[in-house]
Amino acid sequence: MSAKVAKNKTAATKQSSRKRRPKKKKSAKSERYANLVAQLRSLLKDEYNFVANTANFSSLVYNALPDVNWAGFYLLQDHELVLGPFQGKPACVRIPLGKGVCGFAAKQCETVIVPDVSEFPGHIACDPASKSEIVIPLFDGERVLGVLDVDSATLGRFDDQDAEGLNELVTVLVAHEEGLDE
Ligand code: SME
Repeated sequence: MSAKVAKNKTAATKQSSRKRRPKKKKSAKSERYANLVAQLRSLLKDEYNFVANTANFSSLVYNALPDVNWAGFYLLQDHELVLGPFQGKPACVRIPLGKGVCGFAAKQCETVIVPDVSEFPGHIACDPASKSEIVIPLFDGERVLGVLDVDSATLGRFDDQDAEGLNELVTVLVAHEEGLDE
């Protein structure tokens, strides 16, 4: 019955229903990231301790994103990345620049998505459960400060929307640390 009614709509009716059609909805993923940005801003508010802020950042990402088994920071010190605040199993402490996914992302100054870590030459396995990974460099202008590393036990867990959302989150963090968000 309802199908018949729909079929018999006049051109005028179709036109008006087209006009009323709501704007295209944001994807659930981009809504989740928009939400996370708001939560991060509220966690950072009035706090400028880098360790405290990166620790809370890791916890936020680890607990809010589905299917994540490790989330945290490696910070650049004298040509190597040193483990910073994180959530997940204990991890390797030092990664030379250029080594592993983290070192590669830091050296190339680019976000790296690895759908299958077994296919990334030189991948450093900290938690053998990790199957895919995304690494986002943190910049102070042109200078790399370190990376955010997020791992998943699912193959192909991360896509361009994750890259965009996580880049926005680290941009908010760094801008805050530099006092640029006032
Ligand atoms: N897999 C990373 C090492 C860090 S752990 O995943 C936490 C890499 O290849 O650089």
